[in-house]
Amino acid sequence: MSPSGLAILIGAGPNTGTGIARILSNPSHGNLAVALLARRPESLQEVVSTVRKTSPGAVLETFPTDTSKVSLEKTFQEIQNHQSFKDLKLDMAVYSIKHSSKKPFLEETREDFEDSLETYVGGAFTFAQESLKRFFADHGEKGLAEGGEKKGVSGHRLFYSTKLIRMS
Ligand SMILES: NC(=O)c1ccc[n+]([C@@H]2O[C@H](COP(=O)([O-])OP(=O)(O)OC[C@H]3O[C@@H](n4cnc5c(N)ncnc54)[C@H](OP(=O)(O)O)[C@@H]3O)[C@@H](O)[C@H]2O)c1
Repeated sequence: MSPSGLAILIGAGPNTGTGIARILSNPSHGNLAVALLARRPESLQEVVSTVRKTSPGAVLETFPTDTSKVSLEKTFQEIQNHQSFKDLKLDMAVYSIKHSSKKPFLEETREDFEDSLETYVGGAFTFAQESLKRFFADHGEKGLAEGGEKKGVSGHRLFYSTKLIRMS
């Protein structure tokens, strides 16, 4: 069965990432083509092999990238241009990277802590912006009826648009 839309998953690793990709791409579940993003190409290929064991026909493409602004913008452009995803609208975008520091608090450094914030929070910001631009381009929307600039912020969650777009 041809995929009904596109999902972009960053954090396509061996654990949660593989599980998310398996469900999203399965014709009986998400039935979506999935763009798989993480830094290491060999790890991405393992995710593809694992998912194809249960969904041989899954449409999966890999995009090695980190979470920097320039890399994410380039990757979203590559996804836009990819032949495998031609005519598919973005239906879901998932940010599921793991970048935790397990050092005891007093051994942590400001530099490493800030690096982790940049990866998690800065990366999530650009990923969310790029995803929203693509959602609105694909679905012909502008966010809230008042013109697309409004958003509701509650704790760490951002609610956007009259449709369900939620960032946690
Ligand atoms: N596993 C669990 O039981 C569990 C439970 C609850 C919540 N979670 C949450 O689920 C999320 C995923 O965790 P997981 O352990 O299950 O992950 P996972 O599937 O093993 O994959 C996470 C992937 O994130 C990628 N990544 C790390 N830093 C990155 C960066 N800077 N840029 C791009 N990709 C990066 C890594 O690939 P590269 O190294 O190749 O980049 C890694 O393979 C985390 O937020 C975690 O807290 C996990």
